[in-house]
Amino acid sequence: MRLLFYLAALGILISQAPARGSPEKDRQIFLDTYSKNLPGVPLSRYVHGSMMLSDDALSQYDSIMDFPPFQDAVDSGEKIWNTPFKNGQNFSNCFENKGVEIAGKFPYYDSDLEQVVTFEMALNFCLQNNNEAPVDFVDPETMGALSAYARSLSDGMLMQIEISTPDALAKYNDGKSLYFRRIGQYNLACASCHLTHGGHYFRDELLSPAIGQAVHFPVFRGGERLYTLQMRYQRCMEAVGAVPYSSGSEELNNLEFFHSYLNNGLPLESSVYRR
Ligand code: HEC
Repeated sequence: MRLLFYLAALGILISQAPARGSPEKDRQIFLDTYSKNLPGVPLSRYVHGSMMLSDDALSQYDSIMDFPPFQDAVDSGEKIWNTPFKNGQNFSNCFENKGVEIAGKFPYYDSDLEQVVTFEMALNFCLQNNNEAPVDFVDPETMGALSAYARSLSDGMLMQIEISTPDALAKYNDGKSLYFRRIGQYNLACASCHLTHGGHYFRDELLSPAIGQAVHFPVFRGGERLYTLQMRYQRCMEAVGAVPYSSGSEELNNLEFFHSYLNNGLPLESSVYRR
């Protein structure tokens, strides 16, 4: 909790959302802030988030990832992915390229639906289009495992979010304004911790930069507890004393759209260990 008070005290210094500009300009503002906070650290290390500055933490990470304690969850996701629906179809039939090398294009703005579609939503659409019941976005056993496996088919792909129409830009801007909005009892924004203080230590924990965060979900905290990206957003909202939006809500989808755009160009790696 002391961390929160410290940050709340600093809160007054928090940068304002860049009002105008393009997504690319926003991304540059984030990059410039981090290169000041983390001089000389190559962008490729950002994917390791709070471990990026510690060789010890990274070598411990590597040894956990050699035999991931969460492999069973990913395997059970593979089973769900491969099990035919009652109509004989399966998940791979719903996706371009059978679902391989596609996750880096999610979330995308769907102009027919007039909304942002996340990868997890697309998994549920696949179920519904095949007359199967959708699964709960926050259930680790179904959506979590399925997302862990399905995303692994895109490991190594570079994030490539497109914002190509004014409607898509409006959703991006909606996500951006939530990122910079102070919320909760502690009156802190995502940007307070992960932009302004991104790359700074608080006690023994480095606050991870927003760039690098979105490419490696789900994570398994403590090696076991599965968190999708939106579940992780929800935990941070609770940590500042705010009531989180639900997973799959328009607010979090737009937030994920904005956040993922910032991660463009970084390689995806799903299912990793986190503290
Ligand atoms: C009080 C500071 C604080 C605020 C405000 C905050 N977070 Fe966090 N967040 C943390 C800490 C601490 C962690 C764990 C260490 C790390 O990875 O940065 C974390 C972790 C994360 C992670 C996981 C990073 C990873 O690599 O596993 C994501 C994603 C994230 N936060 C997003 C957000 C979003 C989006 C918001 C706004 C809704 C937000 N956070 C608000 C402190 C904060």
